Amino acid sequence: MSSQETPDEKLPAEQGSAHGAVRVADERNPFADPGLPPHEPRIQDIDERAAKRSERTVALLFTLSMLATVGFIASFVAIPIDKSVYIFPLGQIGAMNFALGTTLGVALFAIGAGAVHWARTLMSDHELTDERHPIAAPPEVREQVMEDFRQGAKESVIGRRKLIRNTMFGALALFPLSGVVLLRDLGPLPEDKLRHTLWAKGKLLINMNTNEPMRPSDIAVGSLTFAKPEGLEEDEHGFMNEIAKAALMLVRIQPDNIKDKQSLEWSHQGILAYSKICTHVGCPISLYEQQTHHALCPCHQSTFDLADGARVIFGPAGHALPQLRIGVNDEGYLEALGDFDEPVGPSFWERG
Ligand code: FES
Repeated sequence: MSSQETPDEKLPAEQGSAHGAVRVADERNPFADPGLPPHEPRIQDIDERAAKRSERTVALLFTLSMLATVGFIASFVAIPIDKSVYIFPLGQIGAMNFALGTTLGVALFAIGAGAVHWARTLMSDHELTDERHPIAAPPEVREQVMEDFRQGAKESVIGRRKLIRNTMFGALALFPLSGVVLLRDLGPLPEDKLRHTLWAKGKLLINMNTNEPMRPSDIAVGSLTFAKPEGLEEDEHGFMNEIAKAALMLVRIQPDNIKDKQSLEWSHQGILAYSKICTHVGCPISLYEQQTHHALCPCHQSTFDLADGARVIFGPAGHALPQLRIGVNDEGYLEALGDFDEPVGPSFWERG
């Protein structure tokens, strides 16, 4: 059907009122604005008791949000991190995560639902139309915007409905506390934990491949073996934190070839135990050149001379690898004679 054939009776009728001015489509303007329907007052506009009910509903939702936020904080503080609960159909899940998710969800939902209910039932529902204009607003338009803003603030009845205003401010002020509480997840201060490892006098050296204690005869000249302290098991909570500090690298060098006197004293029959953690930025060292006794970090190629106190001979590392004093116990197994006498890993810890 052509535009000339468009029957006028299928288009909205011209209303001519301030609220719903309607233009009829014609050849020159086929996309005429159909205008707004006549304004229908809501029950809250004509019945003060209904308005009061809406006010109480909004306040209830904001209060519910406040309670949920308090519940969130209480859950974070009171529920043990390893406690779990059965929730159908999710199955067994962490009780703290479930409580945090539920309370946070309720707190957010109640604020949103309160705001929507407030807008739908109590704020002015007169629809306003505005003509399009150039992006750069002239001063009189800016003044109009400010006037509209003031008008909007007035029509939101925030000044008159003090219960809503107060509970909304309460909900919005309390809700950010959830984020403050989450800062606790940054964990406790490290105190001196970074300066110590699990190594202690009498701890057996456990081969990381076989998970067995080692005798000196298990370490061949020229070999590279990795070890962990006795009692540190992979399935334990905190294993990664501890092994990141305590991992050892064992090499056996003919005692005559060990240049550093202290290294020789701290070794056992030429078996030297060095930290496996690179002193540059902490990568695990895994490459060993048996002819030169050089250990190479794969991350940035720092190279350490294990026959000479593991001093740095190349690369960005700023410090020799810490050495662990070792010996053998009465049963002939290799054991530590104490902890490292300096922090392992990146050398900036020395500044602390
Ligand atoms: S971490 Fe080892 S050289 Fe950078």
